[in-house]
Amino acid sequence: MKRVSLTQYLVEEQRLNNSIPAELRLLIEVVARACKTISHAVGKGALGEVLGTASTENIQGEVQKKLDILSNEILLEANEWGGHLAAMASEEMESIHPIPNRYPMGEYMLLFDPLDGSSNIDVNVSIGTIFSVLKAPDGMATPTEKDFMQAGNKQVAAGYAVYGPQTVLVLTTGNGVNCFTLDREMGSWVLTQRNMQIPPDTKEYAINASNARHWQPPVTRYVNEMQAGVTGPRGKDFNMRWIASMVADVHRILNRGGIFMYPADAREPDKPGKLRLMYEANPMSFIVEQAGGASTDGRQRMLDIQPTKLHQRVPVFLGSKNEVELVTRYHQE
Ligand code: AHG
Ligand code: MN
Ligand code: MN
Repeated sequence: MKRVSLTQYLVEEQRLNNSIPAELRLLIEVVARACKTISHAVGKGALGEVLGTASTENIQGEVQKKLDILSNEILLEANEWGGHLAAMASEEMESIHPIPNRYPMGEYMLLFDPLDGSSNIDVNVSIGTIFSVLKAPDGMATPTEKDFMQAGNKQVAAGYAVYGPQTVLVLTTGNGVNCFTLDREMGSWVLTQRNMQIPPDTKEYAINASNARHWQPPVTRYVNEMQAGVTGPRGKDFNMRWIASMVADVHRILNRGGIFMYPADAREPDKPGKLRLMYEANPMSFIVEQAGGASTDGRQRMLDIQPTKLHQRVPVFLGSKNEVELVTRYHQE
């Protein structure tokens, strides 16, 4: 079998479809290289002294894990000097990170959740990295947070890496979704799945059911109806999965369908949901839509939400199209 590397895929995509400008290609390669470094650190585990908690909190008041901080640093360092970026923003940093003056400034802006699924780090369950790429607004001189306030439909690329039994990289530049597997011996990303498609129907859902008492009525109704099984209104049995790493749950859905939900709930009314629009919901929604799925915040298309804050949180419903449409309809009724 002839192997296609990430580099070859990107070069051919640029040549054939003109969908990937040279600077964006460099950006993706640099992010992919950083993910390789993170994957290597994750794989060392206790031997690399990367497990456990740091003594710091991030902007969301979450205790940071050592690997949250390390992954953030790896991504920052890898992306600073290439000349392809104007600024970066991360779940783990309070404010944006403009490219230092000593390096040339590029036209893209990179956002990331450096380590998704932090609660799974120390128990050897799949975790990952999520990233999103925006274009700097025309005429931008010094990047500010305001320049990042672009709806998800403005993303020019998005992707995630899963550090699991295999390390994989899933990528979209707006022309379908492809998956690359890390060849650990060669240190290269090899194209292993072309044009991933999420089936429109499913019998599998993912939600943290321990929060059920805090849900809003449309979510309770939707989940109850699935749990009623073959004799209930849905007329079929459903299965449930919850990995507690969004990357791993979304990767399962890209491979065999399903719906992933992290609804807003009554615990913290001023924080609608847990997941972050800019680092988690938007990149995943771009990927899911590119694979034929759907994504909403329960009421509207995720990618059309106009952000107002860098660390904004949103309710998330994404995956198999018909299921996302149903739960969204329940919110509208
Ligand atoms: P992060 O580790 O980046 O903070 O994100 C964790 C997120 C997401 O990956 C996962 O789906 C969800 O939090 C799990 O939340 P619960 O612990 O409430 O199940
Ligand atoms: Mn996350
Ligand atoms: Mn994270």
